[in-house]
Amino acid sequence: MRPTLQTERLILRPFTSDDAEGVTALVGAREIAANTLSIPHPYDRSMAEAWIATHEGAFERGESRVFAVTLRTDGTLVGCVGLAIDQEHRRAELGYWTGMAYWGRGYCTEASAAAVRHAFEAMGLHKVFARHLVRNPASGRVMQKLGMRHEGTLRGHVLKWGVHEDLEVYGLVRDEFERAAPHIAG
Ligand SMILES: CC(C)(COP(=O)(O)OP(=O)(O)OC[C@H]1O[C@@H](n2cnc3c(N)ncnc32)[C@H](O)[C@@H]1OP(=O)(O)O)[C@@H](O)C(=O)NCCC(=O)NCCS
Repeated sequence: MRPTLQTERLILRPFTSDDAEGVTALVGAREIAANTLSIPHPYDRSMAEAWIATHEGAFERGESRVFAVTLRTDGTLVGCVGLAIDQEHRRAELGYWTGMAYWGRGYCTEASAAAVRHAFEAMGLHKVFARHLVRNPASGRVMQKLGMRHEGTLRGHVLKWGVHEDLEVYGLVRDEFERAAPHIAG
């Protein structure tokens, strides 16, 4: 059974096929694809359907947990947060996007904090890390607000739309989380 998480303003629940249209509308923005590593552009509904259809199997295989970020007030889909799990090393990579209309309201940080807490407390993982393109400081700011530490820069690490780009890496290990947990919302 895939989990649902709650925060002050948000409900994080599994995506269903009914979300395909909403995902397409939010992820279709060029700004989302441009700042992530694996979202194609242009983006159409069949891609959303195919992506959502992978979630349950990936959850059952212990590979990932992907949450639709929705508003508690009316259920509006505002974004996504996911954990890509490496069981061998007891760690997960955190990834996220927020629909552009909802940027700057703290939703990504609030949802990600709940996902990080879930990774340590419910899943018992040892580490959560995240990576962002150097030219995407908003994502780095989310990582900082989660209490993650900057671990380094991976130079020329990805080829994004024909350009070799650097990635910043942030991480949080279990003892840091336990010290900071009371202050991490979610
Ligand atoms: C990165 C992203 C997920 C942030 O979502 P969000 O819901 O707006 O995030 P939050 O509101 O929780 O926090 C954003 C923070 O970035 C800050 N920020 C925004 N633009 C910034 C910029 N150009 N430089 C530095 N900080 C910036 C905001 O001020 C805020 O920090 P604050 O609370 O200290 O003011 C969203 O911009 C997005 O989806 N971008 C495209 C996809 C993407 O980048 N995904 C992550 C890939 S690593």
